[in-house]
Order: sequence, then structure tokens, then C-alpha cells
Amino acid sequence: MTAPQTASTAPPPVNMVGHAHLSGVFAPQRTEVDVDELTVVGELPADLNGTYFRNGPNPRFDPIGRYVYPLDGDGMVHRLRIDNGRAGYSNRFVRTPMVLAEEKAGRALWGGITDTYSPGPDLVGPELAGSSRQLPDINVVAHGGRLLAMAESDLPYRLDPADLATLGRTDCDGAMALGSTAHPKIDPATGELVLFTYRLQAPFLAWSVLGPDGSTRRAPTAIEGVDEPVMVHDMALTARYIVLFLCPLVFDIPGMLRGASLLDWRPARGTRIALIPRDGAAVRWAETDAFWVWHFANAYDEADGTVVVDYVQWAYPGGLADVDTPQRGGLVRAVLDPRTGDVDRTELAMRPVEFPRIDDRDLTAPHTTIATAGISGTDRTRDALMFLDPRRGTEIWWKAGPFAVGEPVFMPGEQHAYWGTLGTDLRDMTSWFHILAAQDPAAGPVASIRMPIRVPAGLHGSWLPSDSDLLDPGAR
Ligand SMILES: [Fe+2]
Repeated sequence: MTAPQTASTAPPPVNMVGHAHLSGVFAPQRTEVDVDELTVVGELPADLNGTYFRNGPNPRFDPIGRYVYPLDGDGMVHRLRIDNGRAGYSNRFVRTPMVLAEEKAGRALWGGITDTYSPGPDLVGPELAGSSRQLPDINVVAHGGRLLAMAESDLPYRLDPADLATLGRTDCDGAMALGSTAHPKIDPATGELVLFTYRLQAPFLAWSVLGPDGSTRRAPTAIEGVDEPVMVHDMALTARYIVLFLCPLVFDIPGMLRGASLLDWRPARGTRIALIPRDGAAVRWAETDAFWVWHFANAYDEADGTVVVDYVQWAYPGGLADVDTPQRGGLVRAVLDPRTGDVDRTELAMRPVEFPRIDDRDLTAPHTTIATAGISGTDRTRDALMFLDPRRGTEIWWKAGPFAVGEPVFMPGEQHAYWGTLGTDLRDMTSWFHILAAQDPAAGPVASIRMPIRVPAGLHGSWLPSDSDLLDPGAR
């Protein structure tokens, strides 16, 4: 997603002092390191071998203009290897042409996503003049032999898993020619990667599919019934459907050019839900009240034809700039009937949680646990992981004490399973990767790996077992 650029004067620097998403645990990290042997408190599980990749906004230089979390920034990918009781770490910026041009200049040249400024040819040459900053800073996904730093409905960047070098922007042989959500879903049953993208011009929504080998199985296909640009961050996937929630957050380009927000919240419209059959049949629609969704936990088909979707629901806080106002909402289940358009919503756990994840091997099938990062105290720091069993409604909390923690990731070991998360100790700003036993996460970490540098609070990541094709190409 790129907004139009019209202004010609560079905006002033962002005041980073005390900025909610540019200071403290969010302060950008500019150091890149490779460290083979990390300090571990506790004992790394002998049956856990693999690599965790995580992405997040991390501006290469102090930004100019406006800084809108979580969309602005540059990508920095962190890689944590766990191998036979040892752990190593590397991190690299995702080097887009904008990052490279700024490194040459030694300062920020582009404004933020909601600024109308882009540098001219005198600053960045004719090829980049007038371009928008590319932001592959939201997620990092491995599929079909590719490691991809994912952007918000834009083309991803391919990375070399061996050294995290940026290999270049890619449309994945055309499958992502219109862009991709940062949250494509990999169907464990078929090995397919299914994605959608939203756009400022028609087609406003499209979907496509890559086969397990990374080839294009369905080229970008317009989703009918959408006649204006709408922001949709994540998707859910079942064996039969792609599920998109079209919350009433509409792009208002005339408004932005007048100086208002690029995004306009229009709650009277309610939320439209698209059920897009993966077999290419006509899209089914359902409608319900207005609310906002960043992230889905999972979805699956019931035998009676209904579709279960678990997600984190927000009462929209009034603007992207206010995205971290105290959260009203929580984990919600919607049961959708594709035949009637009925939507039946049930509150699973109305807690201030985000970043819902499950055991990725259960995607598109019923899941037993939804893990989230949550707030246990009164301030806004995510300082706990909450594990919900949606069948029983039981919650297990691990309160992380002084740590601000991020998205949990499920890590299957050879005998046992684990959850991991990156956290930063607010007392000394050291960062750690905590490993919890999936059988008893409330007991706290079985091991905590000390990161050699502070890892800023970020967004999304992936765990790859050590025998994955990407990490062990010889196994292909
Ligand atoms: Fe996200």
C-alpha cells in the first residue's frame, strides 16, 4: 500500500524523545551483529532445534515527518538459532533502495507513510525521485524456498536465510504481483501459501495462491463486491474459505490531501465479512456491527458448513495514531454461516491481548490453545503471555515480571512443545528470548537466552524447525 506523494518540502524531524514508539523498548536498534554463542539462563531443551525469525519497524535513521506505528519504519530482521543446546543471533536491516539511499546520505530522506513528501531527483536520483518508502517491516515468512520480509499489502523482500542479506524485492513469479498482506497463511494440509492484498485502486482486494514449491497456483484474482479502498491487515483461512473482515476503515485520499487522516472510520457501515471459496466459486458475504481487527488466531470449517473464526476484536480507538489507546475488546469467536450470511459472535476472553498465535500445524483445523501477548497491569506495557483454551474457556497467564514481551511463537520439539517470545527487561533494557514449556507455561521459562544487543519491541515472526527445507536446502 503506497499513498500519493505531493509535497516538495522535506518535513521536520520527528521528536523521538518520549515518543511512544521510538523510545524505550521501541527505540530503534542501529547495530548489526553476528554472535555464535549466547548466554543461557536455565537449560535449552535438548529436543528443540530450529531458527526463529522476527521482523519489526526499526527506522534506519531518525525519521522525518510523521511516524505512524505499526506501519512506518524500516524492517530489521532478527534471527535466533537454537542448535544442540547452543544459541546464536544475527540481525540485519532489510535493505530497500530507500534504506540504501539514506545510508549513502547518512540521514532520513523519505517522510512517513502518511506524509505527502518524497525526495526529489537532486537527493535520490531520477529512479527513486517521487517514490514512497517501502516498508517490509511487519512479518517474516518462509515458504516454497523463500524467506520473505513482508510489508502491508505491498511486495515483499526476499532475504538470504544464511546471512540475512537482502536479495531484492520480489513478486514471487507473479503470485504477489498486486502485493501481499503481511499475514499470508500457510495451509499445513496442502502446503499452499494463500494471501490477499488490498489496494488504493481497482481491484481493491485480490487473492492468490502459491503451491508448496513456491510456484503460482492461482494468479492474483479480484475479489468482487468491493468498490472502494479499505484497510484489511490480516486474514483467516479454512480448508474451504479465505475469510476477510472488512472493518469500516476506509482510505480517504481527498481527506489526506486536505490535511486530514488518510484513513477514515465510518462505523455506520458496520463490518462486512467476505468468505472467498478457495475453489474459485462466488464470494459469500455476511455483515455485522462495526469493530476493528488487526489479527486473527485461526479459522476452520465445521461439519455443518459454518465457519469458526477466532480473532482479537477492538472497539476502534479513533485513528491509527491512537492505536495504543487502552484496548477495549479481546478474543472473540465468530461463527459464520455462508448460506444465510448469519454472524454469531461470542466473547472468549475480553482481555487486553494482541498477537494471537496457535500451533501453526493446526491452522485451518480446530485449535486447542490461543497464545497472546497481554497486559496484566495498569500501564500499557505488554508484560504477560495469556494462553486460552477456547473449548473450555480456561486462561493460563505467565506474568513476565519486568519484561515487556512480544508475539508468542509455537515451537514443536522432537518430544515436547514450547512457546517462545522476545522480551526486554525494563530494569536494564537487556533483551531475552524466553522459552516456555507448552504443557505448563505458567511455570515460566525453562530457559532464557540473552540477546547480545537490545531487540526493539517488534511485530511478527516465524519458527522454522532445523529440518525445514529453507534451513537445510540439501533436504529438498
Ligand atoms: Fe500484524
